[in-house]
Amino acid sequence: MPAPNIDTIVSLAKRRGFVFPSSEVYGGLGSAWDYGPLGVELCNNVKQAWWRWIVYDRDDIEGIDSSIILNRLVWQYSGHEATFHDPLVDCRECKSRLRADKIEIPEDAKTTPVAELIEQKRLKCPNCGSNDLTEPRDFNMMFRTTIGAAAAEEDPTALGYLRPETAQGIFINFLNVQTAMRRKIPFGIAQIGKSFRNEITPGNFILRTREFEQMEMEYFVRPDAEHLNLVDEWVDQYLEWFRGLGISDENLKRREVPAEELAHYSKRTVDIMYRYFPERAEEERQWEELMGIAYRTDFDLRSHSSKAVDIEGMRINPDSTEDLSYFDETTKQRFYPHVIEPAAGVNRTVLALLLDAYSEKTNDKGETRVILKLSPRLAPIKAAILPLAKNKPEIVGMAKAIKRSLQPQLRAVYDDTGGIGKLYARQDEIGTPFCVTVDHQSLEDEAVTVRDRDTWEQERVKVSDLAEHLQKRLKE
Ligand code: GAP
Repeated sequence: MPAPNIDTIVSLAKRRGFVFPSSEVYGGLGSAWDYGPLGVELCNNVKQAWWRWIVYDRDDIEGIDSSIILNRLVWQYSGHEATFHDPLVDCRECKSRLRADKIEIPEDAKTTPVAELIEQKRLKCPNCGSNDLTEPRDFNMMFRTTIGAAAAEEDPTALGYLRPETAQGIFINFLNVQTAMRRKIPFGIAQIGKSFRNEITPGNFILRTREFEQMEMEYFVRPDAEHLNLVDEWVDQYLEWFRGLGISDENLKRREVPAEELAHYSKRTVDIMYRYFPERAEEERQWEELMGIAYRTDFDLRSHSSKAVDIEGMRINPDSTEDLSYFDETTKQRFYPHVIEPAAGVNRTVLALLLDAYSEKTNDKGETRVILKLSPRLAPIKAAILPLAKNKPEIVGMAKAIKRSLQPQLRAVYDDTGGIGKLYARQDEIGTPFCVTVDHQSLEDEAVTVRDRDTWEQERVKVSDLAEHLQKRLKE
C-alpha cells in the first residue's frame, strides 16, 4: 500500500528529518527544500546505487564531474539560449504567472492553439477562475549569473548560466574522455550533479523544483546503429533498475513522447512515468515523468565541433576550437557519434521511493503504525541498537559497544530516548530494516534480539555473529 498522496510524505519527511522547507526562518523560498540527516543519506544511497550499476557493474561507461558554470557559448551552441523556454502567461486578475501549456483546455478545443483560446477568453486561470489572461510569451528557464568580480550587472560579455542539464558537460568532454581512457565506440559517459531551471510553476514538493539533481548518461554509438531500438533497450533496463530498488511495477509505466513535445535535440524520447498522484480520480492525471530516455542523434557533438558544416558548406560553429568527431580504426571512417541519453532525477527517484515504500500496519493494541519499507540497501540507517533499560550502565555500555563495532561496516545508530515500543515505532517510520535490542539476558549469554522491520518477527543472535548476520540479511 503506497502513500495515499504526496502530502502524507511531506509531513513524514519534515517530522522525521528527511526533507525540510528551505529558508523557513525567513518565511521560506517557494519550492526550495533542504535535505535533512535522513534525506541526505537516502539521496546518497540512491546516487551510489546508480553509480555502481551504471559505471562499476558495466565495462563500457566512464564517470565524470564537470563544472556547473560553463562558457556561455556552450549554451548558445547547444540550442538552450534560443529554445530552452516555456510559454508564460499572466493572469491580470490575481497576478499569477502560469505555464500556458499546463492550463486546462476545454474538451472540444484540444487542437486549438493556446494563444487563440486565450484571445477567445476560453481559458481560465486555475487560481482565481478569471479568463483575463495575457498572450503567451517565451520565458527562458536558464538561471543567469554574472561572471567575474569586475563585471557590471548588464555586461553581456560577463553573462553566464547555471547549467540546466548535466549533459552538456559530458558532450564538451567527449574527446577528453575518449582519448584519455582509450575508449572505442560504443561507450558511455555518466555524471551526477545539480542542475538549475527557473521553472515558472514549480511545486508538488521535490517533484518540480528550481534546483535539483540529475543522474545522466550519454551513450555514444555509430551513426548506423539501431537508435530507436536502443531507446527501448535502455527503457527496459531502467524499468528493471527501478523495480530492483523496490518500486512496484503497477506504479511505473512508459510514455512515448509525442513529436510536438520533443526537445529540440531529440528524434525520439520515451519517458518512464511514476504514479505520483494516486489520489486523482482520473487515471491519466495520476502520472508524472520520473525520467526520460532520448535519442539525441549527433546534434550536440556536431553543434560543438569546429569542423562540422551545414548543407551549404558553412561552419556550424565558428567559435569552437575542437572537432568532436570520432575516427573508427576498423572501418577507417570518421563520424560524429550518435547519442542515446537516459536522464533521471535524483529527487524524483527519492520521492517515488518514499511514496512507494510507505505502508501502515496495526499493532496488537489496535494502534496504526507507519512502516517505510525501503529496500535495505537504500535505507538511511541499517540497524538501530536499543538498550532495554537505559538506567542499567552494563546494558547501555554493551549497546554502545555493539553500535561502535558495527559502524565500520554499516550505518548504525544508538538510541535510548524512549521506551522500547516507541523506539521500534520510530525506526519503522524511517525505514530502518533492523532493530537490535540489548536486554538483561544479553549480559549473560552475549546474544541480542534482532527485530525485522516488515514482519516484526524477532530472533536471538550471538553478538559475535551479529555483523555477518546483518550483512547477509541486508543483501536479501
Ligand atoms: N538532458 C536531458 C534532460 O535534462 P529532462 O527530461 O529535462 O532531460 C531529466 O530532465 C530528468 O531530470 C527529469 O526526468 C526529472 O527526473 C529531472 N528534472 C527535470 N526538471 C526537474 C525539476 N524542475 N525538478 C526536479 N527534477 C527535474
